[in-house]
Amino acid sequence: MKPLSITNKKQTQDDKDRQARLQKSGQIPAHIGIIMDGNGRWAKQRGNIRAYGHKVGVDSVRDITEASAQIGIQYLTLYAFSTENWKRPFTEVNALMKLLVRTLRKEAENLNENNIKLTAIGDVSRFPKSCRNELEEAIELTKDNDRLQLCLALSYSGRWDITNAFRSMAEKVKSGELSPDEIDEQIISSHLSTADVPDPDLMIRTSGEFRISNFLLWQLAYSEMYITKTFWPDFRRNELYKAIESFQERDRRFGKISDQSSENQSRNSVAEKALS
Ligand code: FPP
Repeated sequence: MKPLSITNKKQTQDDKDRQARLQKSGQIPAHIGIIMDGNGRWAKQRGNIRAYGHKVGVDSVRDITEASAQIGIQYLTLYAFSTENWKRPFTEVNALMKLLVRTLRKEAENLNENNIKLTAIGDVSRFPKSCRNELEEAIELTKDNDRLQLCLALSYSGRWDITNAFRSMAEKVKSGELSPDEIDEQIISSHLSTADVPDPDLMIRTSGEFRISNFLLWQLAYSEMYITKTFWPDFRRNELYKAIESFQERDRRFGKISDQSSENQSRNSVAEKALS
């Protein structure tokens, strides 16, 4: 496979070894969702304006995207702009929009060459036309790629997503296409903006806040959480590896008891047979 190059840096042997160790030591999450937080505080600590934090945050996006694709993560969802972020001062919203346009223009080809599919979730209709155009072009250009799906949550909130899903199901019930009895978790999931994507195995939040902040509310039901004090502009691949290591140490029970997890299943059935 062609070596990945999003960051334009040659991958070091140390990094290759670290990734190989992680792949051997346990499961690599198929889907990681990230709340990228702390750009403003990072910039302020350096006596700089908040927009500078967002700009350096894009370097983290590149590094994390590249490392994720190299290590075999299939879906990476980044919370880039929440519904609530529209309430920020106009100058900051404007700076973020410009940064998004510039980044998409600069990176679309690069993502495509690296077989990365770009998608977006959220109420993108609220974005300026220039932004929507860049986004649509990048999505169209990369639509057949299958190495990693990079999904940007833009003007997104979990409640917006769930509200839309309910509205669309209600319309189907009204037209007779769907019966209320048929509505179950799978039907609800299939009406969310993430319908084609498995729920995140791991959710990472940077900057040390213990909140979900209206991210993928429905989809995070059984995700493992990893919260780090590191601000997003400092969150690079070594931090991602730490999060994956932590994920690999978790005992994911999905509401069952530890002994019912898959690796213990066969042991249990042997014990059950012995008892019968
Ligand atoms: C949170 O930090 C970050 C954001 C609201 C925006 C994230 C955007 C980027 C990393 C850049 C653009 C992304 C792409 C995909 C091109 P904050 O501003 O809330 O920081 P604070 O909590 O310290 O105030």
